[in-house]
Amino acid sequence: MQELKIPNHVAIIMDGNGRWATSRGKKRSAGHLEGSKTLEKLALHSIKKGVKVLSVYAFSTDNFKRSKEEVDYLMDLFIIQFKNKMKKIIKENIKVVFSGRQHPLREDVLSAMNEITEKTKNNTNGILNICLNYGGQEEIVDAAKKFAEDIVNKKISMDSIDKQSFNKYLYQNLPPVDLLIRTSGEYRISNFMPYQISYAEFYFTNVLFPDFNEDEFDKAIESFNNRDRRFGNAK
Ligand code: IPE
Ligand code: IPE
Ligand code: MG
Repeated sequence: MQELKIPNHVAIIMDGNGRWATSRGKKRSAGHLEGSKTLEKLALHSIKKGVKVLSVYAFSTDNFKRSKEEVDYLMDLFIIQFKNKMKKIIKENIKVVFSGRQHPLREDVLSAMNEITEKTKNNTNGILNICLNYGGQEEIVDAAKKFAEDIVNKKISMDSIDKQSFNKYLYQNLPPVDLLIRTSGEYRISNFMPYQISYAEFYFTNVLFPDFNEDEFDKAIESFNNRDRRFGNAK
């Protein structure tokens, strides 16, 4: 049997928490709580399998359109998760980084994010990139602004910019995404990592995120192994 190829960078659009809850007659928040447990399990599992970077879509810039009750619940849940619930992640030597805009996140959320970033900054086993208040077009616009600023301040020359060097202006300088997973039967990108997914393989599943367990993750890896990535080459 051929050895399993493990994608270097996996990205997950963690969707379907609300439907998971309402189909059980529960409030949407119950789905978010269950989803947060699934995320912790998946982060440990994927890094153990050899994935180097796991990027997860936790909250989009557009998710601020939701009710105050839901947004507040999610922000409180993030704080609890970053402050108390990520002990195993820290113990497993995983580095946590964030992608997204700071504004208009609450101070207590930003401070919990800083705390876990600081605590894990020297960890070397793998990276968990949490995309929170993240928008992909916003990321490209923000990168373009930082780039323009460096030009104006004569820190770099116009000619020095190419695909690789532009990557350094993104929220995190990470390798390209190899496998993008979206749960809950939606077939769209919803503004997630457009710059990084240009040659990613896509895996869509009807499973709702709270039910997306280790076995479901392994199915996505298996599917990735049956893909023929050509990057523009001829066969
Ligand atoms: C994904 O689940 C989590 C976030 C967007 C924060 P949803 O909350 O979008 O769940 P559905 O799509 O309504 O079922
Ligand atoms: C994308 O899911 C954002 C996250 C998973 C955090 P949404 O549920 O917000 O996306 P749409 O609205 O279905 O496109
Ligand atoms: Mg959704």
